[in-house]
Amino acid sequence: MTIQEIPAGTLDAAKFIEEQVRQISQTVGTGTAINALSGGVDSSAVTLLGHKALGDKLKTYFIQNGLMREGEPERVQALFHSLGVRVEVVDAREEFLGALKGLTDPEEKREAVTQTFYKRVFGRLVKQSGARFLLQGTILTDVDETVAGIKRQHNVFAQLGIDPEQAFGYRILEPLVQLRKDGVRKVAEALGLPPSVFGRMPFPGPALAARVIGETTPERLALVRKATVITEDLLAQAGAFQCMAILHEDRVTGMREGRREFGFQIEIRCWDSVDARHATPTRLPWETLEALSGRILAEVPGVVSVTYHIAPKPPSTMEAI
Ligand code: XMP
Repeated sequence: MTIQEIPAGTLDAAKFIEEQVRQISQTVGTGTAINALSGGVDSSAVTLLGHKALGDKLKTYFIQNGLMREGEPERVQALFHSLGVRVEVVDAREEFLGALKGLTDPEEKREAVTQTFYKRVFGRLVKQSGARFLLQGTILTDVDETVAGIKRQHNVFAQLGIDPEQAFGYRILEPLVQLRKDGVRKVAEALGLPPSVFGRMPFPGPALAARVIGETTPERLALVRKATVITEDLLAQAGAFQCMAILHEDRVTGMREGRREFGFQIEIRCWDSVDARHATPTRLPWETLEALSGRILAEVPGVVSVTYHIAPKPPSTMEAI
């Protein structure tokens, strides 16, 4: 089944919203649905489309998987509260960290995140709520890369021949699947979401697990989480499509206070892109790179190396995992 792309340039956001609301409402009928909101532009747009279509028949959850950035659940809950949408936080940290324990292979890590989300957490939420539908924000780029076998994006099933109803016991609706990121931003703006959401940098479903090379332990997540706060803070004004900090698996010899320190390596990536299909590293000023290095070395314990990624996508991909 080929998906008919709607390019951002030809997208009529108001008409698109009207059509998707009609379709969601028709498909769910008198039933109920759930959706998971991470606070990114895709899941935020789906949350508002779903609430427009279903009102209280849609229950929205924030899944605290232990892989999120600093302060994320509180921020997302408060924002949507101000938009009149109730968001319930589900603590699934132990399940996700348990599933990732011991895994180092990138695709195995992605698969563990996928199974934990869809089989365990959503499976349980669907049972508890009596819902038969999950609404989610898969976009066309997620599908393309997964089908091409480049990267198993966490939210792609039908196009891989997986029937979610058989595999997990519920149907998945994907109202944004004909769009790319630039199109979703237009829809999010037309839905009345604030610029902090429709202009927000993308963040991947596997979250910080995509930015820890090697095993995703709570200790290693804490390091990358700290480096992420600094990176996003210092690069907020760079106008980039996306920026990130990555923790490497290998350690290298460094020195602190005259002593040897076999320390961690953090890699910074900052991308210019329109739709994530192609991307080039942002030409950051040297002073910005120095500031990043200075703060990461001073504030993230045990880090002795900070590097900046300069290869384009392709052949690189944007996330490290
Ligand atoms: P890559 O790393 O494939 O990333 O070049 C392209 C864009 O997709 C985001 N990304 C994901 N988004 N689920 C998502 O919803 C995923 O599993 C996933 N993996 C990567 C990535 O952050 C970038 O914006």
